[in-house]
Amino acid sequence: MTAEELKRQAAARALEYVSDGMRLGLGTGSTAKHFVELLGARIKTGLRVIGVPTSEATRCEAERCGVPLTTLDEIDRLDLTVDGADEIDPALNVIKGGGGALLWEKIVAAASDRMIVIADESKWVPVLGGFPLPIEVIPFGLPATRRAIAQAFAECGVAGPMQTRAAGNGHVFVTDGGHWIVDAKLGQIADAPRLAARLSAIPGVVEHGLFIGLVSATVLAGANGIRVVERP
Ligand code: A5P
Repeated sequence: MTAEELKRQAAARALEYVSDGMRLGLGTGSTAKHFVELLGARIKTGLRVIGVPTSEATRCEAERCGVPLTTLDEIDRLDLTVDGADEIDPALNVIKGGGGALLWEKIVAAASDRMIVIADESKWVPVLGGFPLPIEVIPFGLPATRRAIAQAFAECGVAGPMQTRAAGNGHVFVTDGGHWIVDAKLGQIADAPRLAARLSAIPGVVEHGLFIGLVSATVLAGANGIRVVERP
């Protein structure tokens, strides 16, 4: 089975958590795209839901699939967000932001009663950090911010090279919110909650890709079938 087929299976299982009338957060990335497509198909056969997209890309995709949309200006809470992830650990802490949408994703997740992460089994890791940690930053004063980030890493016992993300055209990647992203290759993050709190305290850091305590359950699709891990 291909990775795309596994992602679609995870997305299909997550649809079972959706019921009529729900307000949904719609994630970003290739796995979340499957969910939006499948959701659109269910809407065509009568399901009534409304969604808040976590990126411009997802907004376009949802419109293409016929998913009615709203914003967090119009509603204050969401029932459920379904999103992908770059890495998931056994405590259901995750790294997100490989697609650059981490800020909007975290705002939407935090406004949701539940967040379900859908992924293929390759995203399940014993310890976070193999995937470079995306950190969304303000361009102003970036060298100072990078020094503060390096200091936070040192205090949390991690280290590794940092790189400002480039777009496909060679220019700096700019997020939907107008910020830049620094990716940090840390290898293993022994204490992700501590690092998350430390990074959040840096003025030039808008947000980081560590989602701590936000995920309610994960649906993992692998060669041997689907596994659902609920937060205890
Ligand atoms: C987008 O910014 C990310 O957080 C994605 O959710 C994450 O990178 C997973 O993407 P894939 O489903 O494409 O692997």
